[in-house]
Amino acid sequence: MGVRVGLIGAGAMGRRHLQALSRDSRVEIAGVADAVADAAKAAAEPIGARPCRDLADLAALKVDAVFVTLPNVYHGPVVLEALARGLHVFSEKPMATTLDEGRQIRDQVRRDGRIYQIGFNRRWAPAYRFIRQHIDAGFVPFSANVKINDGDMLTPSWYTNVAISGGFMYDTAVHLFDMVAWLIGPIERVTALGRQSCYPDYDDIALLLRCAGDRPVVFSTCGHASWAPPQERVELYGDHALLISEDLDRARYTTRENPHADWQQFPSSDTVGLWGYVDEDRAFIDACLGTAPPPVTVDDAFSSLAALDAAYASIAAGGLPTRVPTE
Ligand SMILES: NC(=O)c1ccc[n+]([C@@H]2O[C@H](COP(=O)([O-])OP(=O)(O)OC[C@H]3O[C@@H](n4cnc5c(N)ncnc54)[C@H](O)[C@@H]3O)[C@@H](O)[C@H]2O)c1
Repeated sequence: MGVRVGLIGAGAMGRRHLQALSRDSRVEIAGVADAVADAAKAAAEPIGARPCRDLADLAALKVDAVFVTLPNVYHGPVVLEALARGLHVFSEKPMATTLDEGRQIRDQVRRDGRIYQIGFNRRWAPAYRFIRQHIDAGFVPFSANVKINDGDMLTPSWYTNVAISGGFMYDTAVHLFDMVAWLIGPIERVTALGRQSCYPDYDDIALLLRCAGDRPVVFSTCGHASWAPPQERVELYGDHALLISEDLDRARYTTRENPHADWQQFPSSDTVGLWGYVDEDRAFIDACLGTAPPPVTVDDAFSSLAALDAAYASIAAGGLPTRVPTE
């Protein structure tokens, strides 16, 4: 038994998911939709799929599930339409660009029981897996220092248009909001300061988070840091022990007894594997087939959106500590 899949948004990320899905023999890509006909055609035809214009065209192909890989502002309405059509949904991050749309998606998934998974691919990336395995084995993070940067904000072309992106943090930093919650605990309170330095959006942001259990996290994100590695780094502080990851392929665990422990390198032959796209897509297909529950829940997606919303509210209020809504 397989899953008939449609994909909407044949840009850079859509093509990456098509590549990842091509490695799963249970998947049949029935159609690829894009507002630009040539983009749909170029992505669909080499894999024997039907080029389509929109979600209605994909639904007419009797797909079971749809991948939504559109620019951020379209996630909310298109995911809601797909759920209303009874389809399982894999949505790229962010969940939506407004909290209200996020609530509607969460409520609809809870009500109708369709599979919903968001593209938090780092949960499958080897460096973050290494950290999570140590936490599952007993490492307790009391506090943390994390960063995630972009070298520039030139691609995609809509990145600096807040009306489409939702804001700089909706695009890249959202991944680390999810990592902080996954590794440390739910984010309960956010204090944030932002600055518009090189682009017409807040592109230098410093945050102080409080996670469940009174765990403080220092978080920074910048949109113009050059592409020098590491673009992201996580340091978790335990009981005389430290867990560190750099980017998605390098991590280290040091203790009082072994402060010079070697870095672990996780080589991979290509980006779709290393960045976790192949495994996250496989997990979504497992969930569609009912062989495993969706590994990133709609509540996880909503929590990350709520933390983003609180962060921008804090910036707008000049750094006021802001509670992250849970409902
Ligand atoms: N998880 C990750 O690592 C990761 C990495 C990059 C991008 N993304 C996410 O993927 C999404 C897409 O980003 P991208 O870089 O591929 O963008 P992109 O601009 O390269 O591609 C978007 C595509 O959607 C099409 N499109 C736009 N509006 C449409 C509409 N209303 N109906 C149909 N098609 C429409 C465009 O023609 C384009 O082909 C974004 O939400 C981004 O945040 C995730």
